[in-house]
Amino acid sequence: MTESTLTITTPALKSRLPQVGTTIFTVMSALAQKHAAVNLGQGFPDFECDPALLDLVNAAMREGLNQYPPMPGVAPLREAVVQKVERLYGHRYDPDTEVTITAGATQAILTAVLCCVHPGDEVIVLEPCYDSYAPNIELAGGVVVRVPLVPGTFRPNFAAIAAAITPRTKAMLVNSPHNPSATVWTAAEMQQLAALLAPTDIVLISDEVYEHMVFDGAAHVSASSLPALASRCFVVSSFGKTYHVTGWKVGYVVAPAALMAEFRKVHQFNVFTVNTPMQHALARFMAQPQHYLDLPAFYQRKRDLFRAGLAQTQLRVLPSEGSYFQCVDYSGVSDLAEVPFCEWLTREVGVAAIPLSVFYADGFEQKIARLCFAKRDETLNTALSRLARL
Ligand SMILES: Cc1ncc(COP(=O)(O)O)c(C=O)c1O
Repeated sequence: MTESTLTITTPALKSRLPQVGTTIFTVMSALAQKHAAVNLGQGFPDFECDPALLDLVNAAMREGLNQYPPMPGVAPLREAVVQKVERLYGHRYDPDTEVTITAGATQAILTAVLCCVHPGDEVIVLEPCYDSYAPNIELAGGVVVRVPLVPGTFRPNFAAIAAAITPRTKAMLVNSPHNPSATVWTAAEMQQLAALLAPTDIVLISDEVYEHMVFDGAAHVSASSLPALASRCFVVSSFGKTYHVTGWKVGYVVAPAALMAEFRKVHQFNVFTVNTPMQHALARFMAQPQHYLDLPAFYQRKRDLFRAGLAQTQLRVLPSEGSYFQCVDYSGVSDLAEVPFCEWLTREVGVAAIPLSVFYADGFEQKIARLCFAKRDETLNTALSRLARL
């Protein structure tokens, strides 16, 4: 048979994620570009990182640090993470057995889910939540159990969480400071969580990517700071968020050795390891803790500038306790549902925002949009002058 007689076919796949389509972030960014809108939709800075960090990457490359690093990450970066976590949260992880450097927080969360969730296991998520959680659970064959945060305040409802726990509950995902609502869990709430989980075998996955963005003198309460949580928890963070380099996709996870051993089995045959020169550069940069210690003040100034401007508009400004997001209630401006409102805002006003409803599986409507203030002051001021016309 000659090749020309062979049938040319592409096998049809049964989708592992049939519900997943193009995300709202892609849709809104494309719309923002089309209408030359200020893009406050996607959550990343439009300013550069510290040039010293770039020099450190360059130096690492020139020093020949360009080959595979060890599977869990380079030793100096794991040590830097251990020291930071101990200094800030008082828990000392073992750099050899309890820290792994990951390709961003997204991979860390997926890997944590894959290593502990088996088909049919239930995993509790608190809605609204970051968009990767539910597909991650579904990829593991798990069942997503959604518990709403209290509408209006976005605080955890412990009675509802307790009611959602069954003998099949294997894991729970929490996120503070929170995307999209910008709430920060208090010490009392973290203690309530610890008390709730203590009698169970539930593994906690604590997404703390905005750990260094907490405002008004409040402190981030890491799950690692409570022994009863640390003993059952994968704590996930992101260098991309902390150092204004989201495109580098480098993060880390810390967990007790028994959990980390299983995490690494999946990590080893997934990404295996994360690019070497960035790891060395981040380790050297972290020798100066000042950057992350200054981050709350850095973002609080932007938040305050943005909120002062928003107060002059018809939008109702909701609290922003942490993260780099600011939610607004637009019910005084429009009757539109959230997705059409954000499309209209992008097209007609020239500011792109994200509807809160996309962070809920059932598209729950509250007339709230999320804006990102990790932007240059000029960008924020341009957006504010446009929003003032509302
Ligand atoms: C709550 C939350 N978790 C995780 C991530 C992903 O972090 P990374 O870019 O390090 O994968 C994000 C990014 O937007 C986020 O908002």
